[in-house]
Amino acid sequence: MNRKQNLIRKAVIPVAGYGTRFLPASKAQPKEMFLVVDKPTIQYVVEEAVASGITDILMIISKGKRAIEEHFDFNPILEAELAHAGRVMELDEIRKISGMATIHYVWQQELNGLGDAISYAKYHVGDEAFAVLLGDTIVESSLPVTQQLMQIYQDYNESVIAFEQVTTDKLSRYGIMQGRPLNKHLYLLEDLIEKPEPAEAPSNLAIAGRYVLTPDIFQTLEAVVPGKNNEIQLTDALRLQLKQKPVYGLHFEGQRYDIGNKLEFLKTNVIFGLRHAELGQDFRHFLEQLLESSDHSKS
Ligand code: G1P
Repeated sequence: MNRKQNLIRKAVIPVAGYGTRFLPASKAQPKEMFLVVDKPTIQYVVEEAVASGITDILMIISKGKRAIEEHFDFNPILEAELAHAGRVMELDEIRKISGMATIHYVWQQELNGLGDAISYAKYHVGDEAFAVLLGDTIVESSLPVTQQLMQIYQDYNESVIAFEQVTTDKLSRYGIMQGRPLNKHLYLLEDLIEKPEPAEAPSNLAIAGRYVLTPDIFQTLEAVVPGKNNEIQLTDALRLQLKQKPVYGLHFEGQRYDIGNKLEFLKTNVIFGLRHAELGQDFRHFLEQLLESSDHSKS
């Protein structure tokens, strides 16, 4: 197969979910807009897609998610203000956000799960393989994780899912795989279970919120019945597919940050804050002093 013929250009980013794990903060604000230091989470996700070579993004949205559209749209009034004030760096920064990729939006009518959300991409995606990036997950890696998946897709021409190793207490939060290792990082999937009890989990490798999917997923999704939490699960559609054709799993190189979880969100802000070019040093100093004073108050 000619590598150029199976390049992936489109990405789907589902951002319609209620974010109930993050209430009350997510009541009137999309969790994807929560800040990690000075950028909303969704911007990191779009930047990863663009860095991977994606030029066309479809976001699946719902009521209350308009702030995401606003964030990626042009803001001529703000631009004019910044230009007038000579604030060139900020102007450049906000222009970059709206020029990164062509972003389209489609509304999920009822929130019936991730699989249902993906099915709304059918007409936009058409007959091409496409990437899926969950909007509440940031992944840091030397090669963007979506690009790592695309490289596997180029070699095998089948769907490929990113996995990370998780501890036993987290197994019931994620889709978990059973697979046959093909090499150190790549697996041929044999089963997938959405949010199993630890005793039922076939491994400790969890779906990490990044996928490259072949377009036949849309047909498979039509056959999926409600599963975990009475929702149409993408994991269940992929489980049906792997019984009929190869589906691959990549234990990717990199670090994942799950922004949909309060504790992980806090940890991510501390990690990114410590590394921040402008704020990192002062923030480290502040944390050191804080820990020192809490140590003193204990002794
Ligand atoms: C979804 C998927 C799950 C995956 C997880 C990654 O679950 O259904 O398989 O492991 O994303 O974040 P959700 O977090 O939407 O409940």
